[in-house]
Amino acid sequence: MVIFKKISDLQDYLLKLRATDSRRVGFVPTMGALHAGHISLIGRSKANNDIAVASIFVNPTQFNDRSDFDKYPSSVDMDITMLVEAGCDVLLLPSEQEVYPEGDQKMQSYGFGYLDNILEGAQRPGHFKGVGQVVARLLDIVNPDFVYVGQKDYQQCIVIKNLIGLLRKENEITLMVCPTVREADGLAMSSRNRRLTEPQRAIAGLLYQCLVSIQAKQIDSSFKIVQKECLDLLAEKGFTPEYVSLADAGDLSLLEEYDKSKKMVALVAAKLGDVRLIDNLVIN
Ligand code: PAJ
Repeated sequence: MVIFKKISDLQDYLLKLRATDSRRVGFVPTMGALHAGHISLIGRSKANNDIAVASIFVNPTQFNDRSDFDKYPSSVDMDITMLVEAGCDVLLLPSEQEVYPEGDQKMQSYGFGYLDNILEGAQRPGHFKGVGQVVARLLDIVNPDFVYVGQKDYQQCIVIKNLIGLLRKENEITLMVCPTVREADGLAMSSRNRRLTEPQRAIAGLLYQCLVSIQAKQIDSSFKIVQKECLDLLAEKGFTPEYVSLADAGDLSLLEEYDKSKKMVALVAAKLGDVRLIDNLVIN
């Protein structure tokens, strides 16, 4: 695997490779602290492209909570080993100065309409502005044919899809949304899981159980009732729930009730101590 810290070096390298013949580039943007969820994206990128590119950059502009940024786990050496084992060809490991040479304030930013104000957008003001900023920059640098993202961050997937449209790159870049990789108890893999204490980790699977119960109870229950049950159960077990919601799986417009005429997605966010966890399940 070739590692680039300088963006211009990576661009020269990719340009040379692509000049000789038309090689397909797959790209997986990450913030590091890699786990099997990230590696599944690398596996897909590797299988379907000639060159698998990954990036590791903990983007400060998408952290609305400074302490979440400060505590974000980092394990670059281990990440590099995992990427090599997964067959990743190229890693971009840029500094903040490389990504935002003129400071992040001068970067173009994008709005995503109501997506900025619901669910993650509501809980984390400015988060998607930061995600849009950094993903636009990374897409411009790598110029991939395919981008691989995880369904784990459902709203982010829709935001990135919209961003590709706003950048007028929908004919050049195909977004590939890949399934959420889970632990044995259903907990969605996340870099933040490392920060859970043992007792917190022991109950963290409850988030996924809530999603499964929302799916199962659509047959004979009201979503409002199931939603309250989930919120109460999470609080009782020691979580601080932020939302338990139901939305149209296509555009993420929120639903008050189950609507069997639509493909739906259930989404949850809750804190265990100061660790914030999110998950979702497409339920029909
Ligand atoms: P990060 O949280 O490191 O995630 C990088 C990619 O891995 C995202 O597309 C995310 O959805 C995916 N991913 C995370 N956990 C997963 C799991 N359990 N199963 C499958 N895929 C999973 O998301 C970001 O970084 C950043 O916001 C980024 C897009 C890199 C912009 O900074």
